[in-house]
Amino acid sequence: MTRGCFVKKPLAASIPFMTETDPAIAPLLRRLPFLVAPAKGADDFALEFMPTGEGHLFDWLSETATDVMSVLDQVGAILFRGFPDGGDLGFDRCIEALDLKPFTYAESLSNAVRKNRSPRVFTANEAPPELEIFLHHEMAQTPLFPRYLFFYCERAAVTGGATPLCRSDRLMAHLQRQLPDFVRRCRELGVSYTHTMPAQADSGSGQGRSWLDTLSVNSRAAAEAKLQQLGYTWVWLAGDDLRVTTRALPAIRQTSTGTEVFFNQLVAAFAGWQDPRNSSASSVCFGDGSAMPAPALKQMVAIAYQQVYDHLWQAGDVILIDNLRVMHGRRPFSGARTVLAGLAGPQSH
Ligand SMILES: [Fe+2]
Repeated sequence: MTRGCFVKKPLAASIPFMTETDPAIAPLLRRLPFLVAPAKGADDFALEFMPTGEGHLFDWLSETATDVMSVLDQVGAILFRGFPDGGDLGFDRCIEALDLKPFTYAESLSNAVRKNRSPRVFTANEAPPELEIFLHHEMAQTPLFPRYLFFYCERAAVTGGATPLCRSDRLMAHLQRQLPDFVRRCRELGVSYTHTMPAQADSGSGQGRSWLDTLSVNSRAAAEAKLQQLGYTWVWLAGDDLRVTTRALPAIRQTSTGTEVFFNQLVAAFAGWQDPRNSSASSVCFGDGSAMPAPALKQMVAIAYQQVYDHLWQAGDVILIDNLRVMHGRRPFSGARTVLAGLAGPQSH
């Protein structure tokens, strides 16, 4: 597709919030050939891009990738809706079209059990539908994390199954006001995560990936060498389980514009890292090993969920997320919901 194929229409009238809050974005939006509006129900959170002509989304993105990524860096999340549904391989081509440095599931240290559909695309999480996956920045609990995260809805749930999104810069501002001492200690000390991995994948858990797969190894010795290289401490447990603890990782980071974001896995770990091997209460501590106060953690979770935009999926939806600025999760659901994911832009703590 060439730019000439686009039938340009005026931008939707309902985007004044972006020009008001961030004038730098207006010229970018005017240059893009999409119909643009706030994502429905998102208030001033995420943008929705719709087609103004024919063609698959990957063709549109190959023409507009640089500007689209610039917009994403400003707003945190973009929903593409109303394009022809290209399936899992079409989604793979969308990620390819953005021309970003790849980040594969195999090389990640993600705790989630997933299944690859293509080198760039995998199931988002194989955990049972009744499990809530709480808000998190993808892989913020590991030394290596992706800057960008992409979702595609292959099949929407019958009920539930929304993806909650939370802007971490706004959460940070709320936490600074309501939990200043907790935020100060997070900033000064960082955070350390403890997680126990099984020897074989446990798809009944949201964090059930085996240590062999997580670390891409095939022996205890190789696992220990990898952990040493990554700065973890570890202990072997009965049943060949492996408990690992990270070094102190930053709990707060800055975006390219200098805005602070609450970039960590504290909400998900404290609220949800619960399975036969893990207890959420003992999954996190400050970077010096001291305990985090449970009342502050509970309040942090409540404040985060007050900021949430719940995205209700339609089959064919594609969402681009700036993982540095926006947290995501998964609401429980019924029906055969399938949401696929992709990652890009490896970064390290
Ligand atoms: Fe995730």
